[in-house]
Amino acid sequence: MILIISSSLNPQSRSLLLAKNVLLQLQGIDVECELVDLAEENLPRCNAGSCYGEPAVVSIAEKIKSASGVILATPVYNYSICSEAKNLVELTGQAWKETVAGFLCAAGGQGSYMAIMHLANSLMLDFRTFVLPRFVYATGESFAGSEITDNDLLDRIGQFANEMNRVSKALIG
Ligand SMILES: Cc1cc2nc3c(=O)[nH]c(=O)nc-3n(C[C@H](O)[C@H](O)[C@H](O)COP(=O)(O)O)c2cc1C
Repeated sequence: MILIISSSLNPQSRSLLLAKNVLLQLQGIDVECELVDLAEENLPRCNAGSCYGEPAVVSIAEKIKSASGVILATPVYNYSICSEAKNLVELTGQAWKETVAGFLCAAGGQGSYMAIMHLANSLMLDFRTFVLPRFVYATGESFAGSEITDNDLLDRIGQFANEMNRVSKALIG
């Protein structure tokens, strides 16, 4: 199972559109997958203690643990991932062992294309997560309202979906 997590809290989120599109493309190649939108989850902030026992945290940690691949869709904020995505990893870190992680990013401009690298490094070093060496980075001109209008971006999401399917099956099963 491939778990897709959208982490933007913006009701007009573009990274959520990326997440929805990768869900469709994975379903199109018969991959079992599920989309979780953190805007609807109400996760607590990580306090390194009682938060780990909260039902919402236990539930999403279980989903991450049982997935062969986890796709994190994130806005780029301040040249990095958003705080909701960072908070998710703080809450669920150990669950990222024995999984393949991939990233979909929505950004304002081209200059922040390395925004996910800090998270990718920390997942690799802390939890031995396998990081998919292909990610999707999209900027505002690829969207019109709630639509992805850029065919090249749709192709790149498709390649990403195929790679996530291939690598997670090969490494995790
Ligand atoms: C607080 C904040 C910080 C941002 N920082 C960056 C940035 O460092 N680099 C960038 O390319 N875009 C930046 N942006 C633009 C967002 O990445 C862009 O609006 C993107 O669509 C957000 O993803 P979302 O639509 O899924 O929420 C920032 C936006 C906000 C609100």
